[in-house]
Order: sequence, then C-alpha cells, then structure tokens
Amino acid sequence: MGKNSKVAIVGAGSVGATIAYAIMLRDVASEIMMVDVAPEVVRGQVLDLSDANMITSTKIRGATSKEAGQADVIVITAGAKQREGETRTQLIDRNYKVLHSVIGGMQPINQEAIILIVSNPVDVLTHIAQQLAGIPKNQVVGSGTFLDTSRLRVLLAQKLQVSASSIHAFVLGEHGDSQFVAWSSASVAGKPLLSFPEFKDADKNAIEKEIANKAYEIIKMKGATYYGIGALAASLVDCILLDKREVRPLSVYVESLGTVLSAPAKLGYDGIERVIDIPLDKEERTRLEDSAASLKEICAKYQ
Ligand code: 2OP
Repeated sequence: MGKNSKVAIVGAGSVGATIAYAIMLRDVASEIMMVDVAPEVVRGQVLDLSDANMITSTKIRGATSKEAGQADVIVITAGAKQREGETRTQLIDRNYKVLHSVIGGMQPINQEAIILIVSNPVDVLTHIAQQLAGIPKNQVVGSGTFLDTSRLRVLLAQKLQVSASSIHAFVLGEHGDSQFVAWSSASVAGKPLLSFPEFKDADKNAIEKEIANKAYEIIKMKGATYYGIGALAASLVDCILLDKREVRPLSVYVESLGTVLSAPAKLGYDGIERVIDIPLDKEERTRLEDSAASLKEICAKYQ
C-alpha cells in the first residue's frame, strides 16, 4: 500500500489533528481525509495542516463520512474526552452513541479497511466497533495500552540509561485504571529487567501508579493529552500501511478471555495477524483476569 494509500481521521479535535500531523510528517500516505460533525473545525485544521505541504507530500482534505468509509485505514478519535478527575470508563454512555453514529455514517465500509479506534474507553469501544463495522474482527483494533507501554518504557529507559526501544516491557489489560505491568517478562537484551542492579530497589507499585496516573496529571495541567497518542497512533498507521508486523500492545479480542483488552499483537497490512500469549506469573494472570472481568461487565451493557 504505502504511498497510494488513503487514511481517514474521524474526529478533528486535538487528538485527530495531531495524528494527522504525525502521519503527514512520516510521509507514508498519499492522502488524509478529515471528518467531523463541526465542518468549520475541519476547514480550520485542514488549512493549518496543509501549510506543511511544502515539506510533505501527504495531502490533507475534509471529507464526508461515506468517503471516510472507503479509506484504507480509518482512525476514530471522535467523542467526548475525559474531564479532570473523570475515568475513561465514565465516557462510555456518551462515546457509545458517538461511535454508533460514526460507524453508521460510514457504511458500507470498505471490506479491506483497517479501523483503528483511539477514542475512550478504547477497549470497550473497540469491542463494540468489531460488532458494528461489518468487517472481520481482526481488522478493527484499538490503540489500547500502547501509550501506557510507551510511558513505561520511557521511564525505565531513564532509570537504566538505555534507549526505550531496547526495553521489552508491556502494560497490559485495560487502557484505564485496571491496567498492569507484565514485570515477570520484562527484559533488556533477554536479561530480565528485575535482575538489573539499577532496578533492584525500584518500587514497582510506584512506577505502575505513575504510569496509570500520567494522563490524569496531564489533563489536570493542560486539559487533554494528544502529542503522545498522536505520535504513537501515526506509527500504528505506518505499521499497517507498510505491513511492518510490529508487535504492539493493542485492544484486540482475546479468545481465551472472551473480551477485548490490550495484549501484544502483530499488526500489519491485514490488521491483527496474531495475538501473542506472553508468559505471566500468577499475580499478573489474576490481574489480567480481573481487568477482563471489569471490561466484560461494561461491554455486556452495550450489546
Ligand atoms: C491518555 O492516556 C487520555 O487515554 C488518554 O493519555
């Protein structure tokens, strides 16, 4: 696909525009279409983003929902964002309705499209989108705990003084309050993270708390988070368009748990090609099951 590919971004707020910006700078798609219920906002974002076209060949334009439904990759960022102190799951009533109308407006959706859900609560909305979209489940994926995992790796990188990309560690479960770190499988060059002297006295609970609270902290200070997710979601679009098959912690349907939550998954041109069942210790397994149970309870109300 690559250069001749079309990406649609539904939701032209700060998250949608930042994802568009990051995709443009990667120069990986030929065209980005922006869609929003507020046409004036789309016009403003398109005018602003198109100013970058001297140094990137990715064109940007406003589009209808029907056109967006024919894109190769459809990124959904539409919906209410968290207010200060609000959890992601508290957005479900509002964002369920938004998702319904967004997916309905794009029908019939291109059977080859990959849908990337970014709106929150991302795991629950991905589950619902898999049921509504009318395309195979493995073509509907959520950004999940990719952002939390990046937050974790950046923090560990500072502690260990190695590049974040050399650290293998995942935040799994819900992109939300029941997420957890899979410490037992975390490593650098195959050496268990927990055996590093620099890490010996680290307080794992404090690190987990810091990661899980980071969004709340940013929202308290500036009202929203968008640069981190913008860069990471753009890298997922890139991974799909270039069939990179990177393993990322994403919201995917996990057969053994009967729900959508974040698990390491191989992402490429066809969407999710494989979910990897990484080894977990007893406590981590319990936390994964608890996270799945809380997500299932929410999903059951929105069938
Ligand atoms: C984040 O974690 C709010 O889900 C968003 O930054």
